[in-house]
Amino acid sequence: PHVMVLMGGPSAEYSVSMSSGRMVFNALASLDDFCVDAIVIHENGDWEKTRTIPEDAMHPSALVHSAPPRQATLRGIQLLEDADVVFIALHGAFGEDGTIQAVLDTLHIPYTGSGPLASALAMNKHRAKELFQFHRLPTAPEFYIPPTKAESIERLIPQIETRLGYPLVVKPNEGGSSVGIHMTDNRDALRQALEEHADVGVPLLVEKKLVGRELTCAVLEDYDGSVTALPLIEIVPHAGNFFDFTSKYADGGSDEICPAQIDHKSARRIQDLAVRAHQILGCRGFSRSDFILTTEGPILLEVNTIPGMTPNSLLPKAAKAYGLEFPQLMRRLIYLAMG
Ligand code: DAL
Ligand code: MG
Repeated sequence: PHVMVLMGGPSAEYSVSMSSGRMVFNALASLDDFCVDAIVIHENGDWEKTRTIPEDAMHPSALVHSAPPRQATLRGIQLLEDADVVFIALHGAFGEDGTIQAVLDTLHIPYTGSGPLASALAMNKHRAKELFQFHRLPTAPEFYIPPTKAESIERLIPQIETRLGYPLVVKPNEGGSSVGIHMTDNRDALRQALEEHADVGVPLLVEKKLVGRELTCAVLEDYDGSVTALPLIEIVPHAGNFFDFTSKYADGGSDEICPAQIDHKSARRIQDLAVRAHQILGCRGFSRSDFILTTEGPILLEVNTIPGMTPNSLLPKAAKAYGLEFPQLMRRLIYLAMG
């Protein structure tokens, strides 16, 4: 089959996606069963079909982009015409939030991973958490803030303090890769974090900062529709106090222990929660859920429908521990997509 690997894109995770896309492209090109092209969506909105993927330093892009030019997007979508299947190696806005998935559905082109609804739900952490709470999955206490004006911040601060107390995590509700996340343990830091985002008008999620071990659990579907949880990974960041953009993508920025050394009962519980979260959102193919293991048990932070596939990424490590090398994992995701 002719596979097109979509990468880049108009999100804060552009360069993460380029790194994922390069890895996916190389793996697929190493297999005999595929003819592979890369489709790079550049930061200026132009789409390019190529087999040489530009090298780029890892950097977070702005959280809010100006709308890509309509003509460039229309021409770009036409590049997909000959695809038998699209491997979506995009992260964040447009690529992971259901937008491109709906475009591909419209064109009747199969693609890897979740459909529009599950993608949109998983990208919206607040909406996803409402569903998880409905199904009694443990989540962190939160305060949701729709895009807000700087004038409202003084009014919000006491409400947030009363509901949650410190320390807090302030994150873009629809972000990824830790871009734009602030850890705050006092009023000034909270105000500063809220002000930074109020200026750009993104919805925010303020959550109680949980104390515990950081674990992630990827799940993978099989051809019969069964969902298997892969071995857990524990993340132990080196610098500072959390798994930020730098420690995610710098070599040696964190220790990732796979399989995680935790008790059997907690491991089973986390794997069960990851499978349920995947099913509750209606995800397809694969996903990766992030957790904090507190003294009261694991708390589900979020589901990623297109987890990173960079050389440092977690899903490929978990698949390897499960016995699936990266190219075989890629092959599985494509044949799952093609039904
Ligand atoms: N958002 C990044 C790519 C991840 O979940 O791995
Ligand atoms: Mg994420």
